Amino acid sequence: MQSSLEVAIIGAGYVGLSTAVALALAGHRVRVVEQQTQKLEVLQQGQVPFFEPDLEAAILLCADNLCFTAQMQKAVPTADIIILAVSTPPSPAHGADLRQVFAALHQLAVFLPDRQQVLVVKSTVPVGTHLEIQTLMQQLAPDANLAIASNPEFLRQGRALRDAVFPDRIVIGASETWAFARLQQLYAPIMAGIVQVPENLEIHRPKHAIPILEVSAASAELAKYAANAFLAMKISFMNEIANVCDSTGADIGDIKSTLQLDTRIGADFLNAGLGYGGSCFPKDTKALSQLALRSGYEFRLLKAVIEVNNEQKYRALNKLEHVLHGLRDKQIAILGLSFKPDTADTRESIGVDLIEELLARGAMVKAHDPMLAQLQLPEFSQGVTLCSDLANCLESCDAAILVTEWRCYQEANWALLGQRMSQRIMFDGRNTLSLKAMQEADFVYIGIGRN
Ligand SMILES: NC(=O)c1ccc[n+]([C@@H]2O[C@H](COP(=O)([O-])OP(=O)(O)OC[C@H]3O[C@@H](n4cnc5c(N)ncnc54)[C@H](O)[C@@H]3O)[C@@H](O)[C@H]2O)c1
Repeated sequence: MQSSLEVAIIGAGYVGLSTAVALALAGHRVRVVEQQTQKLEVLQQGQVPFFEPDLEAAILLCADNLCFTAQMQKAVPTADIIILAVSTPPSPAHGADLRQVFAALHQLAVFLPDRQQVLVVKSTVPVGTHLEIQTLMQQLAPDANLAIASNPEFLRQGRALRDAVFPDRIVIGASETWAFARLQQLYAPIMAGIVQVPENLEIHRPKHAIPILEVSAASAELAKYAANAFLAMKISFMNEIANVCDSTGADIGDIKSTLQLDTRIGADFLNAGLGYGGSCFPKDTKALSQLALRSGYEFRLLKAVIEVNNEQKYRALNKLEHVLHGLRDKQIAILGLSFKPDTADTRESIGVDLIEELLARGAMVKAHDPMLAQLQLPEFSQGVTLCSDLANCLESCDAAILVTEWRCYQEANWALLGQRMSQRIMFDGRNTLSLKAMQEADFVYIGIGRN
């Protein structure tokens, strides 16, 4: 059996590019189709068009196995496996907007040969999409010999390559035995843990083989939503516990320490804060809730998870409003605009939401992010100053809200920075600053359930 495969990947975003690099590192020949000209030009120069640690170094290692093109015909006809990794943004009506998926299928259909190929859907799509794709492909390419497989992606931005080369598990949903076999072959080097990686990732190489789960396509599609919904639930649960801490005098740090030692609960995703944002959790929780409803089931727990998350950031503002005796004409610093640290992605950013709410409540806002130059931000109305320097951002502010737990905020000299502020009030929306350091720097410190 041949060991290396020809792979076409459609879409060079966080998922498509990280997968492409992981598979090229695994020895496969990977051609990536990207439709955005600017992005493509950057990729063709061996660079990464967005901030994501380790990717650029890894591209150097596997450059011989990897190329980028705008043309489907240069990647699709020769591929053994075609992987769809285009966006599925939120859609108010249907949960997930599948227009990019179907547009890509129309574009690639005309280049399908009549030999066996697996079309892998890696984009997050509602349950049943594989059937719609199957019907569409039978119409668009009746002579093609295509198996449709679902292979959801679980990587995290900020550590996308690490998750792509060392995933916790690989999930494959298909109905043809040969499609499973070919995907086994694709992932064999990753499952065996023998993929070459940049040196700094070596310490994360797992000691055990990576499990691969073979399930139905419907299960694979639902498993992705279930994973994100479960993690979102943990976050909303901890936020609710933190709110109870605030009203009872208990401390969320103590609760977290207790819970994380329980192996049944697990140690991750137990941080209380301003809630989750980003391109996945908000859209995937809403999509699952709508999907359940359409199938005749009201997912009440998930509805509550979403509601708690929507309210959490505004609860925090209410608290600050109370401490400041109103927000009108107050100058507030927002610290962090990317939806989480180690990414420049601002999709569903809590920082952006808070700026808009602060403006609506009559405050003036200064906002800082260590990656400001690389962020895509909306046009704010008057009253917002964006700062790349933290000290400038805090100048004359009545309070600061730490929104994204960037390391630079943990390492900052708050005693010095506090001197720039009109009032030393810190709302730590991620419970990330040292209480002792803030006390020594003479700050009024407000956390989330931290007492
Ligand atoms: N970002 C994450 O952390 C993450 C994690 C797991 C799963 N997912 C899912 O993976 C999918 C992709 O997410 P992403 O964050 O990588 O998206 P992204 O927006 O970063 O990238 C998508 C890319 O596809 C390209 N594209 C769209 N249509 C194309 C076409 N017809 N031909 C060629 N290129 C095309 C776009 O130009 C873009 O570069 C989504 O369904 C998402 O929900 C994302």
